[in-house]
Amino acid sequence: MSEAKMYVNPIAEKYSKDINGRVIVVDKSGIVKGDSNKEFLGETFRHKEIQNALNGQTSTNTFKFKEYGHVLYVAVPAIVQNRVVGATLLSISINDIYKDVNHIKLNLFFISIVCILLIALISFIFSGFAIMPLERFTKVINSMAKGDFKQRVEVNTNDEFKNMAYAFNAMIMKLDQVDKQRKEFVANVSHELRTPISSIKLLSESLLHQDEDDINIYKEFMMDIAAESDRLNNIIDELLSLVDLDKEKLHLNYKITYINFLLEKIVNRLKPLAEKKDIKLKLYLNEKIQIKVDSDKIQQAIINIIENAIKYTQEGGEVKVSLYSQGKWCIIEVRDNGIGIPENGLTHIFDRFYRIDKARSRKTGGTGLGLSIANQIVALHQGNIEVESKIGKGSVFYIKIPNDIKL
Ligand SMILES: Nc1ncnc2c1ncn2[C@@H]1O[C@H](COP(=O)(O)OP(=O)(O)O)[C@@H](O)[C@H]1O
Ligand SMILES: [Mg+2]
Repeated sequence: MSEAKMYVNPIAEKYSKDINGRVIVVDKSGIVKGDSNKEFLGETFRHKEIQNALNGQTSTNTFKFKEYGHVLYVAVPAIVQNRVVGATLLSISINDIYKDVNHIKLNLFFISIVCILLIALISFIFSGFAIMPLERFTKVINSMAKGDFKQRVEVNTNDEFKNMAYAFNAMIMKLDQVDKQRKEFVANVSHELRTPISSIKLLSESLLHQDEDDINIYKEFMMDIAAESDRLNNIIDELLSLVDLDKEKLHLNYKITYINFLLEKIVNRLKPLAEKKDIKLKLYLNEKIQIKVDSDKIQQAIINIIENAIKYTQEGGEVKVSLYSQGKWCIIEVRDNGIGIPENGLTHIFDRFYRIDKARSRKTGGTGLGLSIANQIVALHQGNIEVESKIGKGSVFYIKIPNDIKL
């Protein structure tokens, strides 16, 4: 054993114990001068890492051996005065590290599986929460499709579904209301149409079944039949007028109109009707007012209201029509000293077919549609009709139309 070997090997052995690995030292031609395992002493070592180290480069590598498992190689050049004089190769078992890494890998794998399962479970539960309100909506929509507007969506969560349920329920309530109004309207129309038809049938049948020679009786019955036919016509005309108003919501024929002239025309037209009942029909034009209206339609509304005033005022009474402006409003006031309207009737007089006294109204040829039509026309002009009335004293109707109507 050379001196170098004698000197180098114990150091290699000592160092090997310190790091708990193998230490091999070679000289510059690759001959092993120290091997902590004494296995390669004197042999030429041609490991790639050793060759690198002899070329002045430090390099590392890992290998897997059947008998040792994973091993880390580190080869370091030994440099003296800038010259490579040899190299040292350290090899350490890294099985423990691999074991730990594998253990961590396995743990990570299980943690991932658990996480995936947890996420799946949570999303399942939450999707259940999200679907539940939708199912309720679907249920209600299905029953609506079958014509049931009584159902409501109940959502107890505190999110957008709750707001949506509120809006949805408001919509069903509105639909329910519209549906009720429609049914009521159809029922009312049928009833109103049936009444004159029954009268006509009754009158004509009684004529048919009696042997009456007196032509005057025939004439009287025929006059009643003609009056009932007129009534039928009136109802149908007014119904058509209502339907037209619904259709025309968006295209009224607006023109700048002098309301003064319009009122003069209307009052002149209604004078004979008033005179028949000895009612004084007076017109007070305080200002000249020019506004944008559909003149035919507005005329229809005003006529309805003045006709009512004449109709529901006793003989010898008085109807005053005045025109004035108040802020942005053009006001047409129709004041009578007639029979008046009871307080509980005031909220209903604009309803279709509503009449305070059906019997009286039948005699006067009323259909109960006039105010409803007038109201709708004025509403289309972005205005409204207000009423004040005292039973036995008289009534005042204020037709209010804005003078800055927005088209
Ligand atoms: N000036 C008024 N004075 C008293 N009652 C009125 C007056 N205007 C309307 N009414 C009441 O309001 C009801 C509804 O009016 P309207 O819709 O024009 O129907 P009608 O065809 O019976 O005139 C009338 O039947 C009447 O009872
Ligand atoms: Mg009327």
